Order: sequence, then structure tokens, then C-alpha cells
Amino acid sequence: MLLQVLGTAAGGGLPQWNCACPGCTGARAHPERRRRHASLAVRVADGRWYVVNATPDIGEQIEATPELHPGPGARQTPLAGVVLTDAELDHTLGIARLREAHEGVDVLATPPVLDAVREGLRLDAVLGPYTPVRWRELSGGVGSPLDGRSSGAAGVSVSAVPLAAKKPRYAANHEDSSDSWSIALRLHEPATGRTLLYAPALAVWSDAFDEAARDADCVFVDGTFWDDEEPLRSGFSTRTATGMGHLPVNGPGGTARRLARLPGRCLYTHLNNTNPLGNPHAEQHKLLAEWGIEVAAERMVIEL
Ligand code: MLT
Ligand code: MN
Ligand code: ZN
Repeated sequence: MLLQVLGTAAGGGLPQWNCACPGCTGARAHPERRRRHASLAVRVADGRWYVVNATPDIGEQIEATPELHPGPGARQTPLAGVVLTDAELDHTLGIARLREAHEGVDVLATPPVLDAVREGLRLDAVLGPYTPVRWRELSGGVGSPLDGRSSGAAGVSVSAVPLAAKKPRYAANHEDSSDSWSIALRLHEPATGRTLLYAPALAVWSDAFDEAARDADCVFVDGTFWDDEEPLRSGFSTRTATGMGHLPVNGPGGTARRLARLPGRCLYTHLNNTNPLGNPHAEQHKLLAEWGIEVAAERMVIEL
């Protein structure tokens, strides 16, 4: 399975346009620290790719990735569609940037997430006059072929591991309270037997997530906050990391200790601009190295 990391930052990116925190100021002074919104491209067949989450940076992310460049036809694109892990704005606003798609675009998500982007963000009505969006339901279980149009064996199959009922603020009053609002995405390539688990927002380490993580060859996990108090300390929130739906990396309830025990390769993504891991010289990197855990880098390529 071939993967291209398109971005590794939480909402706002690094630097965030209106933020003068040490992380954002550091990224302005040292451009190599800049991170785009968290996203990943996965190849499902030769010259055919899907992106996991469509961020506000999707246009620049495509430009920075030669495999996603258009051609040979004038408006021919290797980008077939988008798979969503949730309905948050940092993962969905990029769908609107795909309005120029000549042959339309697939958008796969769980039922409440589809409803939020179609009706809450009104993307169904707004994009309809520009390009056909094929909204497809993502389910759990064994998984379905990611490329719905391919005949024969699926290049990559996709399934959802439901995680939490965390709704985006714009959908706070939505009647659905199932744990399909925020999922881990399981991508499996039958030809190689390889499995990727992608969870940029991990609110709880459930038994189902634990099982999926043990089974995966590679796991991308929520690295939004280094510790639970970070959002409070930085002064931008009155909630803890856990209270915001993101298990922290470090500390008693942190994810690092659990990741260290997994058999597969583990990488943190979705780093908030307050996270000390955004600074390559931060001492926290030493701890992660001891645990054998990586921080996903911008434009990283992973051949699973
Ligand atoms: C999150 O990761 O928790 C969301 O992106 C939050 C937000 O955008 O407000
Ligand atoms: Mn986010
Ligand atoms: Zn900042």
C-alpha cells in the first residue's frame, strides 16, 4: 500500500493565521517547521488516489505531491475522492475546493458525518451545480472496496472503527448520538495483506480500537496535545485535552504507553500548534524515540 502524508497539523495548521503562540512564532521563523492540516493520500490503483480528509489546504497539498498532479488529459486528475474520519471543519472544508472536478468526486463517510456535511454545511446543495458529488456510506465490519468503480479485486478496502459521538460545533444539536461521528479508518490492501489504521482524533482507547491497532501494520494516531493540561496552560481553552476529545500523548491516560506495546509502526499526526513536538529540538522527542514512536513528517511517503 502506498501512502503520501499531505499534512500533519490540527485545526489552524502551523502556523495558524491569527496565532502568535511560541509554536506558531517558531514556525514563522523556521519555515521547515510549518505543517499543513492533517491528511493522507492512499493509492488504490495505478494513477488513482483517494485522500483521507479534505482540508482547507487541499489545493496546496495536491500541488506539493507530484503523484496527485493532473494529466495527461487537460482536466484529468488521479484524485478519485475523499474518505472522512469525521465532520470537523479542518477535515471537510477542502471538499468545496474540489468543485472544479470534471468527473465529479466520491465522498465516503459514516451516516451522521454524511448528513452533517451534506445538510449542515449544505455542501450537497452548494456543490451540486458545479460537479457531481457521489456521497457513499462508510460502514464497519470487513470493509468495502474504496474505489467503487473498479471491477475485479479491490485495490484497497476501507472500513470504519467507530470511536466517539463527538459532533462538530456546527452540528451540536444533531439528533444522532452514535459513536460514528468520529472514527478510525481501517485501510486494507488484499494483494499484500497490509493494513493501515488512521485515527487523527482519538477520544477514547476502546476495545475495538485496541483490537484494530494490534492488527495494523501501521497506525497513525491523534498527536494533538502532548499532555492533558496543555490547552489550559496555553490559555486558549478552558478544557483539558481529553475534554476536547483528544487523548494526550503523555501522562497516565496518554496514548504513548499503549502505542509502545503495539507490533506495527506508530506515528503521531494532527499536532496542535501548542504541542512542543512541533519544535524539532524539544526534549519530548527523546521520550518518543525511547518508546519507538515517530512523529509523522510533512510529505512523508510510506510504502507498507
Ligand atoms: C478537533 O480536532 O477537535 C476539531 O478540529 C476541533 C475544531 O475544529 O473546533
Ligand atoms: Mn481537528
Ligand atoms: Zn499558535
